Amino acid sequence: MLEYDMIRQICAFLYDKCHIDPEFALVLGSGLDGLSRAVEPVMEIPYSDIPYVPTSTVQSHAGSLLVGTINGRNVAVMRGRVHLYEGNSPAEVVRLLRSLIIWGAGNVILTNAAGGINSAFLPGDLMLIEDQINMQGVSSLTGFNDDRMGTRFPDMSTLYDEDCNTDIMSAAKKVGVHLYRGVYAGMHGPAFETPAEINMLRIMGADVVGMSTVLEAEAAHHMGAKVTGVTLVSNFAAKKGGEKITHESVSAASKAGGEKLTKVLLEYIS
Ligand code: HPA
Repeated sequence: MLEYDMIRQICAFLYDKCHIDPEFALVLGSGLDGLSRAVEPVMEIPYSDIPYVPTSTVQSHAGSLLVGTINGRNVAVMRGRVHLYEGNSPAEVVRLLRSLIIWGAGNVILTNAAGGINSAFLPGDLMLIEDQINMQGVSSLTGFNDDRMGTRFPDMSTLYDEDCNTDIMSAAKKVGVHLYRGVYAGMHGPAFETPAEINMLRIMGADVVGMSTVLEAEAAHHMGAKVTGVTLVSNFAAKKGGEKITHESVSAASKAGGEKLTKVLLEYIS
């Protein structure tokens, strides 16, 4: 079956369950689930109950789609995401997000936890993603291009939307949270990086490193959605003699810093 046909079926399935059109699609990363508590729920459905959608195998991800409102704005919140390293194809990684965009979500907000490469960043800091480096070795636009979703060769010079970035910076200022700006490098994972890889990424111009987001941003931009992204720095990126990085420490740190992120996004969405 064509990817587009699957996506249309997912849309129809979701719309049948709740007749609201989301304006915002949010993807909440590891430990960043706090925002879902601010949603006035209309429907919540596990990924495993949505046709054609792979389920998240990451323990700290709830693995469900929450649809409802935040301050009167319709939102669809992905509580956790699926990754390439779980064995999903690039198309599968972005399938649900693409469905939410076809459903009507013209604004996409991507969040993630990542390792800080920029020496100014401390665990707990937030960074607005200004640009990205896809180091996953594959694009979410790989394979047949369905023109109903977007063009074969999309421009990526304005991947993250500058107007949305300005608005999110203002929102952060308003709630008194400092937002750095920088470049997100998306690695394949699931192993954390070696010190040599972090050196390479630093030389390439990356400020933070994670294992998600880049495929989602590509696909959403391909479809003409406005994309913004915020990273929570959960740890110092790997370095010789540095602390060991574990999934547990990353999740714990992002839970702690997640409140700031929630505050910024709530202000932004309102
Ligand atoms: N590297 C890759 N992904 C991550 C990291 C990291 O240091 N921290 C959180 N996600």
